[in-house]
Amino acid sequence: MKFTDLFKKVAVIAAITLSAGAYAKDMRLGLIVPASHEWTKAAEAMGEELKEKSDGKYSVTVFPAGQLGNEAQMLQQLQTGALDMAFMTVAEITNRSEDFGALFAPYLVKNVHDSGVLLNGPTAQKMLEDLPGDVGAVGLGFGGASMRLLLTNFPVDSAADLDGRKIRITPFPPAKDFYQIMGAASTPMPVTDVYDSLANGQVDGVDADLELVWRMKFYERGNTLLHSSHMMFPVVGLISNRLWMQLDDEDKELIGTAAKKHLNGLFKTYEKVEAEMLDNIKGTGKITVTEAGPEFFSDINQQWEEIWEERTPVLKDLRKEAQSIN
Ligand code: BEZ
Repeated sequence: MKFTDLFKKVAVIAAITLSAGAYAKDMRLGLIVPASHEWTKAAEAMGEELKEKSDGKYSVTVFPAGQLGNEAQMLQQLQTGALDMAFMTVAEITNRSEDFGALFAPYLVKNVHDSGVLLNGPTAQKMLEDLPGDVGAVGLGFGGASMRLLLTNFPVDSAADLDGRKIRITPFPPAKDFYQIMGAASTPMPVTDVYDSLANGQVDGVDADLELVWRMKFYERGNTLLHSSHMMFPVVGLISNRLWMQLDDEDKELIGTAAKKHLNGLFKTYEKVEAEMLDNIKGTGKITVTEAGPEFFSDINQQWEEIWEERTPVLKDLRKEAQSIN
């Protein structure tokens, strides 16, 4: 073989190897929830699938438990490209893009199943289009969590019992308004601080969900669990604008499809684990579980609605769409 032919061959092999190497991408994905949380499990499963389907071109390293910072910090990292992906609470998005607050309307949906239908419907899906402009990241799809409820360290018979009480909320306006209308002192607090705060009396109750109450053992510190299912609590899959713009259509499709599949899978997961967790909590005998529906909050829901109808026109569209879900 002539030297020039050999040189050409080596150059071609090097180019192929280099381009394969250059395109291999390990994506860093952040979450605030612990490793044991269903959102983290879904992120890991998505990473496995991507690795397999892309023959190793894409992989995902998952950083749970706020290892990369809180959600506001993770949003900044997504904007600069320091972080590639996140499974983030829609609550945090609401702090930057007010329309998303409409998704937290009290009793917008009855249960996790219906939240999955609504979040995959035209209004919610259209809202994802605002994300690149509003938060600097592309929304790949929604997932769910178990429905919101209220755990208190004092007996509760009616919403009036919450008047003047300190209630822990996720730091975002829809929850703040809901408890303020009730006359409670909305106390914003990350989920990691809740157990100790209940124990030391810093708060009298927490707005949470069955997964937190069971897996983070909040029931050990409570008197009453008001199983109210008063709001849904969606999660959104995000990928940084910077990375998204570098991808070709085929890779966008691959990543987008895997993300949506695993986020959407959370609706089925929670339909199942919600029932199990409720049974587990009841089985401890440590807390009184009281069932409650919209009537428990009487006109509080309506007052919330009036505030938010003024803030975002999307609320009316979501309500209309939700009414058509069985
Ligand atoms: C919360 O703030 O209550 C929360 C945060 C992440 C996942 C689920 C709940």
